Amino acid sequence: MNDEKQAAQANEVGKPAKKETIFSGMQPTGALHVGNLEGALRNWVRLQDEYWMYCCIVDWHALTAEFDKTDELKESIFQVAVDFLAGGLDPEKCAIFVQSEVKEHAELHLIFSMLISVPTLMRLPTYLEKKDTLDSYGFLGYPVLQAADICIYNAHKVPVGKDQAKHIWLANDLAKRFNYLYKKTLNEPEALFTEIPLILGADNRKMSKSYDNDLRLAFTAQETEKRIKSFYTDPQKIRKGDPGRPEQCPVYLLHRLYTPEAKAEIMPSCKSGELGCVECKRRLAKNLNAALEPIRERRTELVAQPDYVWDILRTGADRARQRARSVMEKVRQAMKTDYRKAAT
Ligand code: TRP
Repeated sequence: MNDEKQAAQANEVGKPAKKETIFSGMQPTGALHVGNLEGALRNWVRLQDEYWMYCCIVDWHALTAEFDKTDELKESIFQVAVDFLAGGLDPEKCAIFVQSEVKEHAELHLIFSMLISVPTLMRLPTYLEKKDTLDSYGFLGYPVLQAADICIYNAHKVPVGKDQAKHIWLANDLAKRFNYLYKKTLNEPEALFTEIPLILGADNRKMSKSYDNDLRLAFTAQETEKRIKSFYTDPQKIRKGDPGRPEQCPVYLLHRLYTPEAKAEIMPSCKSGELGCVECKRRLAKNLNAALEPIRERRTELVAQPDYVWDILRTGADRARQRARSVMEKVRQAMKTDYRKAAT
C-alpha cells in the first residue's frame, strides 16, 4: 500500500487523520525483554494510531559493535520482529522493516558525513564511553547513520529515552545544515521523550540481555518465575519480619508496573516486615505472567510461521523504500546532483 492510499484509509470516518511521521529504531539484540516492552514497544504501539510510523530494526547499527559476530544476526532480527508483532505493532498501521533492506539510509549517511566534523563526533558521550574498545570509522559515524535513518523518511518525531537526546539533536542539526546549505528539503526532527519507567534486572543493574539479568518475553511462565526468584532484594531484609526498603528493590520497581495495589499494599507491608520477599516475588511472578500471557501466545503462533514474519518485513521494507526514494530524490535535486534528470 502506498502512503496516499494509506492516508485515504486512515482518514476514513472514525479514524484519526495522521499528519506527522515517526521513525523509531531498535537494534537487533535478539528477543526483547520487559525493559524493552515497557520502555519502548508499548509506547510505539500507542503512537501507531496517530502517526505514520516507520519501525526499523537497525542491523547496520548492530554491526558497528558486533562486526565480527554476524552468525546470529538473522535470528536476532527474526526474534525482534516476532516481539514487535506479538507486542502489538500492526503491520497495517506501521512499516516494520530491516534497515539494510533500504539502501537509501546508507546514501544519506554518506552525504551527511560531509556535513559534520570529526571532533564533534569524538566529543559525544556515547563515543567517549566506548572509544577504548571501539575505535572504528563506522562506530564514530554511528550517530550520523542514525540521523540518516530519521531524515530519509522526513520524520518529524523520534520516540526515544533521554540517553539518545544528543543523537536526535545531531539529526536535527544535520537536517538544518542541509537545508541551509542547499535548499529547504528535510524536516528538522525532534525527540519525543517518553516517561520511561526505571526497570532493573535480577542483579540490580539496568535490565539488559548482555548482563543476562533480564525477563525475556520469550520466557515461559516457569522461566519467568525462576528468574524472579533469583532477583536481588534489599540486603537488609534477610527474613520475613525484617523491615524492607521497597524504593531500593528491583522487585518493587516491577510491582509498580504489574501490580495495581503495589503502592497501597506491597509498599507498606514490605516496609513493616509483614510481607516476606518469597511471597512478594511469588505475587509479582503471578501478575507478570498474567500480563505477558497474551504476548506469549501470539509469540508462539508467530514463531511457528517464519515465512509470514519475513513477509511482513519484506512488505514493510517495500513501503519504507518508496518513501525513502522520494526523499532521496528531493535531496539530489536540492544538491543539483540529479544529473540524469538535468541532462534530459
Ligand atoms: N541508537 C538507538 C539505540 O541504541 C537505535 C537507533 C538507531 C535509533 N537509529 C535510530 C533510534 C533512529 C531512533 C531513531 O537505541
